[in-house]
Amino acid sequence: MNERRIGIIMNGVTGRMGLNQHLVRSILAIRKQGGVELSDGSRLIPDPILVGRNAAKLEQIAKEHGVDRWTTDLPHALADQNDSIYFDAQLTNLRAASVEKAIAAGKHIYCEKPLAADSETALRLAAQAQAAGVKHGVVQDKLFLPGMRKLKRLVDSGFFGKILSVRGEFGYWVFEGDWQPAQRPSWNYRQQDGGGIIVDMFCHWRYVLDHTFGRVRAVQCLGGTAIPERVDENGNRYQCTADDTAYGTFELDGGIVVQINSSWSFRVYRDELFSLQVDGTLGSAIAGLRECRTQHRVNSPRPVWNPDIANPFQFREHWVDVPDNQVFDNGFKVQWELFLRHVAEGSSFPHDFLEGARGVQLAELGLKSWRERRWIDVPEVGA
Ligand SMILES: NC(=O)c1ccc[n+]([C@@H]2O[C@H](COP(=O)([O-])OP(=O)(O)OC[C@H]3O[C@@H](n4cnc5c(N)ncnc54)[C@H](O)[C@@H]3O)[C@@H](O)[C@H]2O)c1
Repeated sequence: MNERRIGIIMNGVTGRMGLNQHLVRSILAIRKQGGVELSDGSRLIPDPILVGRNAAKLEQIAKEHGVDRWTTDLPHALADQNDSIYFDAQLTNLRAASVEKAIAAGKHIYCEKPLAADSETALRLAAQAQAAGVKHGVVQDKLFLPGMRKLKRLVDSGFFGKILSVRGEFGYWVFEGDWQPAQRPSWNYRQQDGGGIIVDMFCHWRYVLDHTFGRVRAVQCLGGTAIPERVDENGNRYQCTADDTAYGTFELDGGIVVQINSSWSFRVYRDELFSLQVDGTLGSAIAGLRECRTQHRVNSPRPVWNPDIANPFQFREHWVDVPDNQVFDNGFKVQWELFLRHVAEGSSFPHDFLEGARGVQLAELGLKSWRERRWIDVPEVGA
């Protein structure tokens, strides 16, 4: 079989996302399956080199997962012409400087969201990558979740008729770190370290809404810090300077109204950690990470408001599962495969730096809306 190697410099693989989603479940999984098949029938085999600050951690990860190459010397790695892709899953605040170096070194670049800490920097990176003629991409993993793909199927089929509104609930309780360890890194709760749920989640909401329903045209947001003090990984108390809760409303093309609550201080009473309900003139759906259920207008029950009697409806029984009908692989891996094909043979890849900049823009405008207590229009970028 005809095989081609592609070298990938992976920075930030000692972190949660870098290690679990990108190294293990994407790149190593792709290696295990024998690479990515290209249109000429050949196979593209990713060959990672792990980059980070902590040699001992890198060595251990490399050993544990059978990876041959690692280094603490990013400039040296970038200088190696045999590795053509740079990947970044470092802390958000550190991303832009490393991405800029990678562009200067002529690498194709794929990275975690947010692309940068502010939209000006994100747009600058997009322009630089474009001018350098390198391929570029940003993680938009939620689009590849089974639940979201089923929802998109419904939208494309015309199931909803006219879409009227969308309501999303995202979040779960993140422990404070004192009596139970927190399930997220402490930097998420410090603004000075790039934390905050608005910066984190509005990047996701931007591409989910743009790609599923229509362009986001305006945003209104109220944020808050529900838990003012937490305990970090080393057992030290710290002040939470970043928002951990956001109530966002968005106006989309076609007059669709979207409300999404995002919080790390909600307790879950729903089927999944994220759910999005769409109501249309002909039908409704509720999608999560994996599942999607529908209710067509012909199956809609006819409730009448009467608190004096026991509720006669089991409302959840009136919803029908959308079948899988296909194999859903890990979303991060699916997007990596698309990016690798994009680099190797120029196939289309819409999730580029400009898309990443749009996400950062929405987060920035959400924060501004909260500060100024008003609706803000979302201007086109890069048009
Ligand atoms: N796509 C998604 O769903 C998703 C989910 C969570 C996080 N993320 C993004 O992934 C990125 C990493 O998040 P995470 O949750 O994996 O964080 P993490 O804290 O687990 O990992 C951060 C990485 O950056 C490195 N790092 C930390 N401090 C550093 C410093 N001072 N200098 C150099 N390197 C440093 C760490 O060693 C680690 O490799 C963030 O940008 C975040 O927004 C994306």
